[in-house]
Amino acid sequence: MTALVEARGVTRTLPGAVPVTLVRDVSLAVGPGEFVAITGPSGSGKSSLLYLLGLLDRPTTGQVLIEGEDTAGLSAGALARIRRERIGFVFQFHFLLPEFTARENLLVPMRRAGGEEAALQARAAALLAGFGLGDAMDKLPEQLSGGMRQRVAVARALANDPALLLADEPTGNLDSANAAAMFDLFGEIVADGRRSIVVVTHDPVLAGRATRQVRLVDGRVVSDTATVPA
Ligand SMILES: Nc1ncnc2c1ncn2[C@@H]1O[C@H](COP(=O)(O)OP(=O)(O)O)[C@@H](O)[C@H]1O
Ligand SMILES: [Mg+2]
Repeated sequence: MTALVEARGVTRTLPGAVPVTLVRDVSLAVGPGEFVAITGPSGSGKSSLLYLLGLLDRPTTGQVLIEGEDTAGLSAGALARIRRERIGFVFQFHFLLPEFTARENLLVPMRRAGGEEAALQARAAALLAGFGLGDAMDKLPEQLSGGMRQRVAVARALANDPALLLADEPTGNLDSANAAAMFDLFGEIVADGRRSIVVVTHDPVLAGRATRQVRLVDGRVVSDTATVPA
């Protein structure tokens, strides 16, 4: 089966008087239905690798393929289009628009992709309701709890139905109960076998809720293991 995202021998080095290598010779293929946790110490290159997988940065050597397509030769515009249509991003901070309601925050990327307004409204409402946010749709981010805000951010990342969801320390500002709930939600998102999630976390307990753990040290993959079902 074609991987939704694949890194082949990816190295990223920042040029300079003293070049800094963030990611070293990483090969990683993530297929539909996989829920991958990237772990490793602070500074090990987790965020850098996620940005490469998400086409927010380009490798110095090696390739990143999206659904089998090498992205190396693509223009900035073509990369932006793939990011917008086929990849969802969640970060440690929610980055919700403060003056917009939860539902409107989903509608912003939906309207950019296009479609009939009534259908977009219905889809936004259904996504939020599916994440237990039915009563929060018309509230502003500041009226929501931290856990709810991050769930809105996940719903927004899925607004245009991307197959790939990338999350960088999405639970970094949450307490352990909300963090566990967010990982449960990720498990539900991949359950139909159509999507995959790659999530960076330094929390080994949370990483254990993923189906696969990839550990980085100094920019290299040092282990890549599947979770043994309990
Ligand atoms: N723009 C940059 N300039 C210089 N060093 C950087 C830059 N971005 C990241 N680094 C360094 O690269 C390494 C990997 O960073 P990062 O991917 O953010 O690690 P992690 O997410 O695992 O904490 C770290 O040592 C970091 O300090
Ligand atoms: Mg990081």
